Amino acid sequence: MTQEFSERIQRVEPSATIAISNKASVLESDGVDVVDCSVGEPDFDTPENIKQAAKDAMDAGHTGYTPSNGIPKLKNAIAEKLADDGLDFYGPENVIVTPGAKQALYEVFEAVVDDGDEVVLLDPAWVSYEAMAKLAGGELTRIDTAAHDFQLEPALGYLKDAVSDDTQLLVVNSPGNPHGAVYSREALEGVAELANEHDITVISDEIYKDITYGVDAPSLGAVTDIDRDNLVTVNGFSKAYAMTGWRLGYLAASEELIGEAGKLQSHSVSSATNFVQHAGVEALENTDEAVDEMVAAFEERRDMLVDLFAEYGKDIVEPDGAFYMMLPVAEDDQSWCEEAIDEAHVATVPGSAFGTPGYARISYANSKERLQEAVDRLDDADLL
Ligand SMILES: Cc1ncc(COP(=O)(O)O)c(C=O)c1O
Repeated sequence: MTQEFSERIQRVEPSATIAISNKASVLESDGVDVVDCSVGEPDFDTPENIKQAAKDAMDAGHTGYTPSNGIPKLKNAIAEKLADDGLDFYGPENVIVTPGAKQALYEVFEAVVDDGDEVVLLDPAWVSYEAMAKLAGGELTRIDTAAHDFQLEPALGYLKDAVSDDTQLLVVNSPGNPHGAVYSREALEGVAELANEHDITVISDEIYKDITYGVDAPSLGAVTDIDRDNLVTVNGFSKAYAMTGWRLGYLAASEELIGEAGKLQSHSVSSATNFVQHAGVEALENTDEAVDEMVAAFEERRDMLVDLFAEYGKDIVEPDGAFYMMLPVAEDDQSWCEEAIDEAHVATVPGSAFGTPGYARISYANSKERLQEAVDRLDDADLL
């Protein structure tokens, strides 16, 4: 007897980034030394004060269920952080604390998108947006920004032509994965104008907001007059605080949307882990210095890699945030990435996984020595 699976789950493929990491792990378990430039997580350990706060919370007995949308202390701290980012209209009642920003995004897609609804992505776009849209039954429209150095402002005309009153959801991610571009205030104003005109829900995924190099990444809700009922702000702890495995993120939105997304949270994951939420308060309140140190290290690596690639005639669009860059490679980027891992033992992710062939995403969440090693190996394998 063959087991039957839902049509819904068969619309999506496993995550391309996780597939590459798995391949790297298999090679490593065979004793091969792989330089992993495919990962989407900081190579730093979680700052000590955050770990201590989790231990203290566990010792204090914070190990049971919490309110589904999160403990009040953390929701308050998040509302304060959002106010610091210029989003002073969110109170704790506008927040759901989730096990990772991914869960926050998933809940919003499920709450907002119906079968056949149009979802607009700005390519290259993080791999899971597509999967979430498809799971919810959405129809994708994709706008390319690669031709404009990954900036949104020059692509606003295409966006304007693409959206209509039938558009349900648009996702904006600045600083962005996989390109690291930071969108200008003018670009965000353009997005807000279109969202207000056509009544489009916009997710502003700000998970890399605190990882920028010499520039600020404006928050969509802070620098535009986007209708607050159409705005969803998503953020999390994984990247800025090196807390990927803790699974902690959040969304902020209108109380109405919180009510709808909250249903999914309460019927699925119940809540984020209790003592992890307590550690989240510590992260937000007492960790600025450690974050600054990590960001400074990422910046040095970015500069080093951009210079190294330039020596091989590779013109990289310098990212202003996050910890990724897009390396222009052969048109068949899948084959290039396969050769990179099979022959040079350097793991990267093909741009086509993000909707933009011809590039490989390089994560520089790795030491300078290892990044130098990656470039040397790619050169030895004639891949540069
Ligand atoms: C753009 C973007 N959004 C959201 C996430 C989800 O992060 P997490 O679920 O670890 O909070 C990621 C992780 O890679 C990401 O790159």
